[in-house]
Amino acid sequence: MGFSTRQIHAGVTPDPLTGSILTPIYQTTTYVQPSVDEYLSKGYSYSRSGNPTVRALELKLADLEGGVDCICFGTGMAAIQGVMLAFLNAGDHAIISDVAYGGTYRLCTKVLSRFGIEFTFADGSDPDAVAAAVRDNTKLFLTETPANPTMKCSDIAAISKIAKKAGAIHVVDNTFLTPYFQLPLTLGADLSIHSTTKYMDGHNATVGGAVISATQEHSDAVAFIQNSTGSIMSPQVAWLTSQGCKTLSLRMDAQSAIAMTLAKHLETHPKVEQVCYPGLESFAQHELASRQASGYGAMFWFEVKGGLAAGKKLMDNIDVFSLAENLGSLESLITHPVTMTHADVEEAERKRVGIIDGLVRVSVGLEDVEDLIDALDKALEQV
Ligand SMILES: Cc1ncc(COP(=O)(O)O)c(C=O)c1O
Repeated sequence: MGFSTRQIHAGVTPDPLTGSILTPIYQTTTYVQPSVDEYLSKGYSYSRSGNPTVRALELKLADLEGGVDCICFGTGMAAIQGVMLAFLNAGDHAIISDVAYGGTYRLCTKVLSRFGIEFTFADGSDPDAVAAAVRDNTKLFLTETPANPTMKCSDIAAISKIAKKAGAIHVVDNTFLTPYFQLPLTLGADLSIHSTTKYMDGHNATVGGAVISATQEHSDAVAFIQNSTGSIMSPQVAWLTSQGCKTLSLRMDAQSAIAMTLAKHLETHPKVEQVCYPGLESFAQHELASRQASGYGAMFWFEVKGGLAAGKKLMDNIDVFSLAENLGSLESLITHPVTMTHADVEEAERKRVGIIDGLVRVSVGLEDVEDLIDALDKALEQV
């Protein structure tokens, strides 16, 4: 079946008690067992180990990503942590794409490194650089593509081959493009992860995470960590996220069309130094972005002439766009990664990977494109 049909129906069956067309919010801690011998006969024992509302979302996401199973977490970071704990031990080494969400960088360098896990941040846009970083103890590759915030793309198929050769697993953070535009598992990756906080929810209402696996063995390993650490998604969050997912394709199509219009407009604006959007022909990896995904998404960044001071002035004065962290929702957001989402990445590392001080990150929402252009033009007039 097509994506639109699956995003609505996958994972959902009418409630057995009432016929409710939506999976109800099963707000319960525990589940009464019919007898000792029939323990778990209905599939549930205690809500840290499983909940029907969360399960409905997991089945939907597994279907949309083309995986065998999905495990949902309390946040995207909990999902990334869950994968790391499931597949890495003390003494192991992991290769992370050198541009990644600041929280991922912090988790690796400031938390997991304390437990004897080694990390190399390699240029994901250059498969040779990734291959050169492989060591005897490399067990996991994590690729975020397009990456937050520079939009650097990594070749999922090429890195999956390098990972297989090294006997390691390849995990792709698919948050920016979602399975509607990009299917990492079909390109050879073993796991696809999401901050469902972003496009899956799509309405700035929840925080959540998900891990979709190509094999049951991998999914079971992730589920074991999720239950052991208690990093679960709540039923309310799962219910809201399931509702959000039902319009994913419509939102992705509409928001990326608006992003393309805004990026093209800014590219010709006299006060703009540079615009970086994978859909633009000027984007350095436009060919790769077009080859491995069926759309370019709704995230881009630009630099105002006058650098950091001008960028700050724009962000402080712009209308319609809200100055806020998060991305992927109906409200257009504008963010300054250096002081906000990537503040924990050391200055030297930021400079090395191209997170420049004047970078203004835009998450394009679903407002009228004319209003967004007008707001950008008026704000640019003032800088
Ligand atoms: C690409 C990416 N991955 C993971 C995360 C972490 O997700 P969460 O904020 O839900 O923990 C983020 C958050 O911005 C992100 O942008």
